[in-house]
Formats: sequence, C-alpha cells, structure tokens
Amino acid sequence: MNISKARELLKNNISPNLFTHSMGVEETALRLAAAYGVDGEKVSFSGLMHDYGKIFSNDILHRIAMENALVDDLTLQEPALLHAPVGAWLLKRDLGIDDGEILEAVRMHTTGVAGMSLLARIVYLADYIEPGRTCPGVKDIREIAFSDLDRALLGAVNLTIKYVLEREKIVHPNSISFRNSLILSLRKNNQELQGYEAY
Ligand SMILES: [Fe+2]
Ligand SMILES: [Fe+2]
Repeated sequence: MNISKARELLKNNISPNLFTHSMGVEETALRLAAAYGVDGEKVSFSGLMHDYGKIFSNDILHRIAMENALVDDLTLQEPALLHAPVGAWLLKRDLGIDDGEILEAVRMHTTGVAGMSLLARIVYLADYIEPGRTCPGVKDIREIAFSDLDRALLGAVNLTIKYVLEREKIVHPNSISFRNSLILSLRKNNQELQGYEAY
C-alpha cells in the first residue's frame, strides 16, 4: 500500500486529533531518520500508521488478541498497551504489510524492548516528542533527540514509566528491558569515550 492511500484510510477512520498526532509522528520520525540515516519510506509508513490499532474499539482489539493468541496476559489486561501489538497484526491482515521492521516498530511503540531496530527506536521517540505532545519534560527530550538518540529515548522511557507508576498501571517488562538496555548502551559509550580520552 502506498503512503497516500494509507493516509487517506487513516483520515477516514480515526478522530481528527489522532490523525493530527499520526501526521506529527510521521513528520518527526522523518526528521529523526534524516539525522540518523534511516530509510525514509519505512519510517514514513511506520510513523503514520503506528496507531492503526486505535481504529478499532478496545473490545475488538481484546477479542482479536484472544482469538489469535497475540499477546501476553499483562498486555491483555492493559488497554493502553493492546493497540500496538494488535495494530501490527491488523496491518498485516488488512493491508498486507509484511515488512518485519515496520511491524516491529508498530508492535513495540508503546513499551519499547531491548534490542529493537533503529527504525523502531525512531518511531518510539517520535511518538513521544511529536509537536502535539505537551507533557512535562518533553521539551528537554526534544532538545537532545537529534544529537543523542539513546539519551533522548532513556528520558522518554523514564517519563513513561513514571507516568505509569503514578497511576498504578502495569509497567510492562519490555519497558524495563528497554530502559536497562539504554542505560547499558550509554554506559558503554561513555566508557569508550573515557578510554579514548585517556590515550
Ligand atoms: Fe499508540
Ligand atoms: Fe501514538
């Protein structure tokens, strides 16, 4: 499916606010892709369609997830998490998307996970910092997003987990693994830099 058809499909099926958000994520993801050297076409599609699952009601997402054994028990219990993995499955079913990287970017965009691709990390961050986002702390993350991807991602995961903790919602283990992987990666880079300076 080409991008203009996807845009039209989305526009006709979601609220104006969610459409504006999706466009904002696409645009931000494209800017990040240019900064970090990632293929623009995949980024555009993943950014635009990351919330495709939200076309469907939570009851429908829940039923599809159950019928096809798509998610773990925690995800099944948390409406905010369900639209990402089920949305990826629906993109394949409805639009025939079979690119593994695009599907991963959509599937993991709410929790993140250790080891996910650069494309998926870009979509995760774009979802957090697109121009419509006004949550406290987002401005600081925007400032470093184009120069220090891992640090910006860590900021976004920290704020997401904080938000979830304060509301006594489920912290998915994938969010924890994603956060730990970022900390380890930042430490490693820092050590390499210090090692380099020592010589
Ligand atoms: Fe989402
Ligand atoms: Fe989103």
